[in-house]
Amino acid sequence: MRSYDLTERLLTELQRPDGPHALAPLNRRLYHVLRETILAGHLEAGTRLPSTRALACELALSRNTVMSAISQLVAEGYLSAQQGSGTYVSDTLPDQRPLTPPASAAKRAPAADNPRDLSDRGALLTRHSGSQDYEVQPFAPGALDFADFPIQLWQKLQTKYWRSLDRNLLDYGQEGGYMPLREAIARYLTLSRSVRVTPAQVLITTGTQQAIDLAARLLTDHGDEAWIENPSYWGARRALEAAGLRLRPIAVDAEGIAPREAEWHTRPRLIYVTPSHQYPLGHVMSLQRRRALLEFAAQRRCWIFEDDYDSEFRYSGRPFASLQGLDAHAQVLYSGTFSKAMYPGIRLGYLVVPPDLLAAFNTGLYDLYRPGQLMLQAALTDFITEGHLQTMVRRLRVTYQARRDALARSLVQALGARVRISGQDSGLHLCLVFTDDAVDDEAVAAACAAHRLFVRPLSRYYLGAPHQRGLVIGYAYVPIERITPWARRLGEVVRAAVDAANGAAAA
Ligand SMILES: Cc1ncc(COP(=O)(O)O)c(C=O)c1O
Repeated sequence: MRSYDLTERLLTELQRPDGPHALAPLNRRLYHVLRETILAGHLEAGTRLPSTRALACELALSRNTVMSAISQLVAEGYLSAQQGSGTYVSDTLPDQRPLTPPASAAKRAPAADNPRDLSDRGALLTRHSGSQDYEVQPFAPGALDFADFPIQLWQKLQTKYWRSLDRNLLDYGQEGGYMPLREAIARYLTLSRSVRVTPAQVLITTGTQQAIDLAARLLTDHGDEAWIENPSYWGARRALEAAGLRLRPIAVDAEGIAPREAEWHTRPRLIYVTPSHQYPLGHVMSLQRRRALLEFAAQRRCWIFEDDYDSEFRYSGRPFASLQGLDAHAQVLYSGTFSKAMYPGIRLGYLVVPPDLLAAFNTGLYDLYRPGQLMLQAALTDFITEGHLQTMVRRLRVTYQARRDALARSLVQALGARVRISGQDSGLHLCLVFTDDAVDDEAVAAACAAHRLFVRPLSRYYLGAPHQRGLVIGYAYVPIERITPWARRLGEVVRAAVDAANGAAAA
């Protein structure tokens, strides 16, 4: 096969929407297509492949994508790389079985070839880690400070229930969780978040991640379309991808999710949004946008998943009511979490479900995940009803606000017009958006990491090409006595990296 024919074939196969690997990441798709081309005998042993640079250019892929596919094939023995002279199809192929699987087996091709291979879905879900890079480090978004968490009180409340010898609390949590906790949450949501809710509608989950997973599994089918904000929370993306949804990234502006004209004509089955504090940019969805989204969902008969993950921490302006509270058609599922106000390892959150979905969601929650932890739920109920949660959140709000102020001040001083700060009115992180969007935020984040200052590049939160570049910076973890010197250092490192990038571009 000539290289022209090879590129033609690769392009055609890569673009097939119904191919067995259509949902896999590009490097995996290229790997499969090349491997199948070799095994089908279209490329003879000894054939020299075009260079990775040429292939990347002809296939309009990044060189990294091509190199990743090629090196996998070299590692598996399909290709051999000869230093300085190129990459060749091997004389002895590792697997000579005919590649075209029977139609029914086509989808399972990779697992059948190598049972230890990840499935395409597995590869897609684990292609890079969303959080593990640096979860609990200075300035890492999501890292919290537990220094003042009232451990003894928390322990006392839990011990009380273990001492009570109430063996019912050892069971699975039937019917959506511990009822007194559901009542306490319903009260809080009605008063503070204008959610329209009865206790029966509140299901206790192991956090937002499970709530998204449950909603996606019960309300959508494999291959359905879901809208997701772009940029967006990687955890939500993973859960929706795991449910086999086709994600349509929808841009975000200062008023929240901002579908383009053509997108208003599509038919998503589910829309995932963070209206109170867009993650990660931090915008609050405007009333006008909320109304438009609700009207759209009513017309298209699709579901909205509202992730209200950090609205306990609002520092200025009035808190916005929930989207669910505005909804006249019972089409919004509202989710909250105790990961921020308590601690992430508690793995407790809640999902407010429209009344007509309740029976199905109760069954789904019970049968799919086998919930439990009733002792913990009982202790949390007391923590809430005795007023400890409110006191703690009030105190943390003051603490975190002081840290945010110190961070923002230092960053503005160091960086001036190089950046715009977004989303600092609430939550536990802010977003530093570079005015010059040619600056490589991965490189800037790497420069910060070299100084043990861990921030995340904004571009990593985008699905596809990033619209903006910058840094997502958490401030909850850094103690107040450290935040000013560390934030100054962060500002200096970012300034040097941005100026170096600008200098290099100008040269
Ligand atoms: C947008 C968003 N939603 C939800 C969560 C919390 O998820 P969970 O309740 O599963 O801990 C986070 C955590 O950082 C988040 O950033």
